[in-house]
Amino acid sequence: MNGDPYAWIRSDLASLHRAGWYRSTLPGTGRAGAYTQIGGRPVLQFASNDYLGLAGDGRLIEAACRATQHYGTGATGSRLLSGERPIHRELERALADWKGCEDCLVFSSGYLANLGAIPALVGRRDLIVADERNHASLRSGAELSGARQLFYAHADLAALEALLVAERHRHRRCLICTDTVFSMDGDLVDLAGIARLAEDYRCMLLVDEAHATGVIGPRGAGAVEHFGLPGPLVQMGTLSKALGSLGGYICGSAELVDYLRNRARSWIYTTGLSPADAAAATAAVAIARNDADRREQLWENIRHLRSELDGLGIEQLPSDSAILCVQVGDIEATRRFAAKLLEDGIFAPAIRPPTVSTSRIRFSLSAIHTDEMIDRLLGAIGRWRQVG
Ligand SMILES: Cc1ncc(COP(=O)(O)O)c(C=O)c1O
Repeated sequence: MNGDPYAWIRSDLASLHRAGWYRSTLPGTGRAGAYTQIGGRPVLQFASNDYLGLAGDGRLIEAACRATQHYGTGATGSRLLSGERPIHRELERALADWKGCEDCLVFSSGYLANLGAIPALVGRRDLIVADERNHASLRSGAELSGARQLFYAHADLAALEALLVAERHRHRRCLICTDTVFSMDGDLVDLAGIARLAEDYRCMLLVDEAHATGVIGPRGAGAVEHFGLPGPLVQMGTLSKALGSLGGYICGSAELVDYLRNRARSWIYTTGLSPADAAAATAAVAIARNDADRREQLWENIRHLRSELDGLGIEQLPSDSAILCVQVGDIEATRRFAAKLLEDGIFAPAIRPPTVSTSRIRFSLSAIHTDEMIDRLLGAIGRWRQVG
């Protein structure tokens, strides 16, 4: 039994390099906003999920500083032990009210919310029916639950129904899981249709509103609000995108939330959200909910970029959100395009397999982008497209 037991890591890394799947980080310095600094150079930010431009907003920063002064930096323990602060319930009440739900439970991240909620709702005797493009955290939660997992083709309600017809009756409980806005495509699913199927086949429905919250719906409360869905639902979301903070949540009935407080292991056995994150998110909910002009500005920016790209003859993947994806070729071509944009002062990432099946550049828009910034992006896209 000689040899280095870690040698396989080197060969696995080498395979990642060979496949073009190797990833590394690119540190941005300076405060979150429409610009970031990369390599000491200011570049326009079209890569962040800061859809409302709140991550660098003075009101959130002030709320976070005040909470830190008052409570200190850490929650010091799990919420059930020493980690509960009044600010946690304040945030949960604000989220529940915004989402039109009885109650809410805040987790330390969106990933942890899915990782905790799904195994609490289903187990080995149960079925999960999931969109094939669901976010990794929904998949991880499903795997952890031990439930049987079946996938339907992306947004294909007929395929979803066919699975329910064939398999629902063989299982005790069934949970349908879907993103509402898909994070690496930007499209919005027909949630009203999915909710109807959930009702017809007596299934629970968990919707991930990470990229819809703050962006979609008359009060920015997400796709559930947009479709005017009544009835019991498990509404998951994150505080880390339009809300400019960190953390995740599940909104739903008081009974559901009470149950998760007792059964969701990723909530019970982890330290509570920091006071700074909770306070920043609470300030963000008030702004996102009440500042309709900010959301309207975001939608004006979305319409502007989309129509100009159309004018340039640049095809985009279907989108109903602040995420716009453009396909420019294979992995290498996409990586080259992103590098050229960066040379031109535009930061927009190349999204590649295994995250997605086909490579693309993902542009995300924010309410704090100006027309002039979007025109600069369009200029860079046009220039580099000609050079190839
Ligand atoms: C659709 C979706 N769900 C869940 C998450 C996880 O959220 P968080 O970043 O708060 O862990 C993300 C973001 O990364 C996401 O895009």
